[in-house]
Amino acid sequence: DKGNHRHFMAKEIHEQPEVVGHTLSTFYRPMTETVELPAAPYDWAALPKVTMVACGTAHFACAVAKYWFEQVARLPAETDIASEFRYRNPPLVKGGLSIFVSQSGETIDTLTALRLAKEQGQHIAGIVNVPESAIARESDVLYPTNAGPEIGVASTKAFTCQLTTLALLAIAAGEARGSIDADERKRLTRTLAELPRLMNVALHLDEVMGEVAHDLAKARDVLYLGRGAMYPLALEGALKLKEISYIHAEGYASGELKHGPIALIDENVPVIVLAPSDELFDKTVSNMQEVMARGGRVILITDKTGAERAGDSAWHTIVMPDADPFVAPILYSIPIQLLAYHTAVAKGTDVDQPRNLAKSVTVE
Ligand code: M6R
Repeated sequence: DKGNHRHFMAKEIHEQPEVVGHTLSTFYRPMTETVELPAAPYDWAALPKVTMVACGTAHFACAVAKYWFEQVARLPAETDIASEFRYRNPPLVKGGLSIFVSQSGETIDTLTALRLAKEQGQHIAGIVNVPESAIARESDVLYPTNAGPEIGVASTKAFTCQLTTLALLAIAAGEARGSIDADERKRLTRTLAELPRLMNVALHLDEVMGEVAHDLAKARDVLYLGRGAMYPLALEGALKLKEISYIHAEGYASGELKHGPIALIDENVPVIVLAPSDELFDKTVSNMQEVMARGGRVILITDKTGAERAGDSAWHTIVMPDADPFVAPILYSIPIQLLAYHTAVAKGTDVDQPRNLAKSVTVE
């Protein structure tokens, strides 16, 4: 049932404040502002390393979480694509934790990677949206996401729920390891508790995104740029756009621009810059100026302060609600999803069933 939406994808995008709230309440206790995780055979304080493995969008959730585990928990973190991980014979650190992230819980590469890590004595955790799936069953510890059934082939609400779960794990790990104290834990959990409200505000950009998408739909190639935890989000934005609008898109770390992709820039290649006003903002603005100096047209997605600091030189400026940098990757998922969605609608492609793609990839 699509409710009053034209597509499942639109419905699932708009469900995010609610389902992210559900996922939060799985482990977050608002009265005490604590994170309570299920019993596990490992101790976050003693873990030498966390390895996160997944495919596609779920892999980009892991790539965001790498920043969180490193910064919040000072825990060495590695991520890989399951199809690479399973064949590269990775030297896994003894006593390490391997986390497998999957909406369906049936992706064959991710499941095979899980079995390989298990054979090598790793602790196995699953972050899975379908509780009766193979990955859920074969994990030592299950951290379920509560996104509800996701029908659209393009993953949206499963992604933000995976991010929410990973953020909670990073906070719990940080507290166990002593890299954050109780005050910092409360501050971080509060930013997560605020998310559903901020996501609702961001969803009001629906109409504006429809107008921007009208312009974007004419492009043949699009670049997405971001720094820090917004870099994997740039990758996710590009994947979402390619999947459903069939426009060629690539995501880059902003700092990589001058190491190659800048050669592509002209007035025909729109550049989408994901840049909340954090401590790296000025660097991103200078990357933007490099793009504009070459005739490139920038779609800047930022907050009020960022919009003021950037001036009005961008082609389009999308103003997001203010948010703590910790939760920005979750919040900024909304505009990139809306942009991909409206671009696909403008192009008239099959949004929920894009060509050549399957919801669950159970063959290699
Ligand atoms: O079910 P999974 O989360 O394991 O699926 C992984 C990928 O196949 C999936 O995220 C894919 O990239 C989506 N179509 C992205 O929108």
